[in-house]
Amino acid sequence: MCFLSRINQLAAAQLIGNRSIIGEVLDELLDYAQGHFQHEEEFMRRTGFVAYERHYGIHQRFEGWLSQVHWQYLKGLRQDLSEELLKYLNGWLITHILDEDLACRLEGART
Ligand SMILES: [Fe+2]
Repeated sequence: MCFLSRINQLAAAQLIGNRSIIGEVLDELLDYAQGHFQHEEEFMRRTGFVAYERHYGIHQRFEGWLSQVHWQYLKGLRQDLSEELLKYLNGWLITHILDEDLACRLEGART
């Protein structure tokens, strides 16, 4: 299952107000993001991607933000996931995948 499917799952769980499913999906989303970022960063290092440091920083900031949301949710500091948060998540991933990741893949394919 990809990022977007997980975000859709999150939105559906939020809609029905199921806290345990939201917690599980946030957990899976974080795991998936970490695995995906590690794999991509490995590819960037292997192919000598010129914007590696910048891209790595974007991953780190996103991972930190998602970890914080996850932690706040599990600790009950965040009661639900707002529509803005889901939109941000969706927008970030689409922008990141279409712009940043594609640039990395294209440059990697040239090397
Ligand atoms: Fe990326």
